[in-house]
Amino acid sequence: MKVRKAVIPAAGLGTRLLPETKTVPKEMLPIVDKPAVQYVVEEAVKSGIEDILILTNRSKAVMEDYFDYHPELENKLRASGRNEDADLIRRVADMANITFMRQKETLGLGHAVLCAKEFAGNEPFAVLLGDDIMAGEKPVTLQLVEAAEKYGCSAVGARHVALDQIGKYCTLRYEPVEDEEKIFRILEAIEKPGPDQILSDFAILGRYVFTPRIFEILADQKPGYGGEIQLTDAIARLAKKEKVLAVDFEGRRFDTGSVTGYLETVLEYALHSPKCSAWLREYILKKAKELS
Ligand code: G1P
Repeated sequence: MKVRKAVIPAAGLGTRLLPETKTVPKEMLPIVDKPAVQYVVEEAVKSGIEDILILTNRSKAVMEDYFDYHPELENKLRASGRNEDADLIRRVADMANITFMRQKETLGLGHAVLCAKEFAGNEPFAVLLGDDIMAGEKPVTLQLVEAAEKYGCSAVGARHVALDQIGKYCTLRYEPVEDEEKIFRILEAIEKPGPDQILSDFAILGRYVFTPRIFEILADQKPGYGGEIQLTDAIARLAKKEKVLAVDFEGRRFDTGSVTGYLETVLEYALHSPKCSAWLREYILKKAKELS
């Protein structure tokens, strides 16, 4: 089994970042000097993905423009000797074979993934949520691809989260797999659990690798939490039919889709960016003195 394709659902309405996200997709907000979605595409590419489908909606056409060539700007940059910048904007469009599809209605993450059925065909594929950025040595998607390829089944990224936060995610019941320390088998999964539904503090976070069997399940998946077709509900059903792994991945997750999550992401990346880390450190220290 070889994972070559990835789907990036990016059709959400971004209601935690209004009014900004009324017209600017949350996936296009800058994290220092690149839009959030570019970090996600880069993770996919570093994980061996060649073909990427980005699911958008009618107010996100700017994402398609971003991953296209821009000859007019390129020519202008080259004419004024700014070849490095010209190369930089061209590389964005050449990173992978990226196609787009519009999810005409926002019916849930499960519905978004089902939209990718033809794109995936009969191959396993990865799913990377467009507003979750993962930082770390080894790409999280690659960690899942390796587990999925080793065991020949679906594998999702999971982490232990604070129990008072689990209601924002999903909750898993799971059991160990052979002599693995970081890989578990999912037995049950509940999306956005209420206090009396919590199975554990282990939650799926932002990254998935599926066998095409998930489409059979999604095709008749009934709406779940919030009246939406939930991917987690389909994972729970798939796990009853075949092995689905939860990989306790290494790396830090940034949720760029909320005001504080976005600011945290920008600050962390800015503190590591050669363009601005020295300036930002100095500014933070000055500010901290003023505030203390
Ligand atoms: C989605 C998934 C949820 C997951 C979360 C974080 O929820 O449905 O299972 O834990 O992403 O990756 P959302 O943040 O879209 O509400």
